[in-house]
Amino acid sequence: MERWTIHRGPIIRAEITVPGDKSISHRAVILAGISNGTCVVTGFLPSEDCRSTVGAMRALGVEIEEPAPTTLIVHGRGHHLVAPERDIDCGNSGTTMRLMSGILAAQPFRSRMVGDASLSRRPMKRVIDPLTQMGAQLTAEGPKSAPPLVIEGAAEIKPLEYQSPVASAQVKSAVLLAGLFAHGRTSVTEPEQSRNHTERMLQWFLAAPHIEGHTVTVVGPKTPESRDFHVPGDLSSAAFWLVAAAAQPGSHLLVTDVGLNETRTGILAVLVRMGAHVREIVEIEEGEPYGTVEIEGSELKGTEIRGKEIPNVIDELPILAVAAALAKGTTVIADAAELRVKETDRLAAIATNLRAMGVKVNEKDDGLEIFGGTPLKGARVSSYGDHRIAMAFAIAGLFAEGETVIDGIECVATSYPTFYETLGRLTSPSEPQIPVVGALPK
Ligand code: S3P
Repeated sequence: MERWTIHRGPIIRAEITVPGDKSISHRAVILAGISNGTCVVTGFLPSEDCRSTVGAMRALGVEIEEPAPTTLIVHGRGHHLVAPERDIDCGNSGTTMRLMSGILAAQPFRSRMVGDASLSRRPMKRVIDPLTQMGAQLTAEGPKSAPPLVIEGAAEIKPLEYQSPVASAQVKSAVLLAGLFAHGRTSVTEPEQSRNHTERMLQWFLAAPHIEGHTVTVVGPKTPESRDFHVPGDLSSAAFWLVAAAAQPGSHLLVTDVGLNETRTGILAVLVRMGAHVREIVEIEEGEPYGTVEIEGSELKGTEIRGKEIPNVIDELPILAVAAALAKGTTVIADAAELRVKETDRLAAIATNLRAMGVKVNEKDDGLEIFGGTPLKGARVSSYGDHRIAMAFAIAGLFAEGETVIDGIECVATSYPTFYETLGRLTSPSEPQIPVVGALPK
């Protein structure tokens, strides 16, 4: 097991970019793979999770060239996929397994998807239920609807009007992807708005869904029209540096070419409420909006994060919990029980690790109460095999007295393989900090 040893870091003054968005990279490969021609995907995130999706689409006969790590040339097969010869390995990636289940449910063949130890504990009932109603047969071989997942696809998948019990973009996407193969209208209504990358990408590939409130409808059968696609930087990866800068008076960070989709920018709103100075400018609107975020550090204060804001910040809650520990006052995170079924039980992992660093935390069924503002103490903590826990606590270590050791950091390769390199660059005393240029208009 590999570990990082982190020491208190300096003020950050820099301009950076972050690797491609993970959610968008998955969808680009899948939709290009079922499109009617060749698509060049640039800005692709070459992480383990996204590579699992590349492997899954290749297993279905889609030819994918890789002229560069972040460029893929995907030769779409339309609706003519072929049966996989062996199990599809989704690794650690819940997005791969859940989105692919939508595609596989609509194929006239059997497939089986497997995952690593963490994915093999995650609930699949949420996709099994709607896809079964559409006529496919899905069997989870693990306990409590956990993988491996065996799918007997329906030769003629049926359209469905689905009321999803969870605000999950993975569930919504699985049903909509299956709906592209069905004859008729397939819709998903979710209790709160989750990230809308599938909808936006369907629009880009000229298979625009109809959207009304929290209901998204596709009319099938529909083959996406092949088009090139650029994946912007991942705001969820930028979030670690945004918090590192926000919580340190004197810091000043610009992140350029970063995704600013409105269903993902909740982190910026939360940081503003906490007292950070944040500006964002959308430079490109087409496909996925992206642009620049600028942040200046200040004394942070506690806030409440709950209700419909939760799906928008779902992946940022570990690093926001670290921001809360650094902020004066109490932060309440509620309505976030979904965190218990991510790559690890993130509520438990955050509470354990923050306590180890001397922070008072109350753990609730659906959230956390974090009493911030006391100095963090270096400690030995675990990633619990979860990339976002590892990276969040690396940032916590920059603010702690003494040494912080994070065990089990291999998992970071699932979403941000170059995280540690960037950490080194931003915190190295020998490295001259890049001056901030072109600050956004106030
Ligand atoms: C994702 C959706 C979110 C998020 C995950 C990626 C996606 O999950 O936590 O990291 O790409 O659709 P849910 O929407 O299922 O909560």
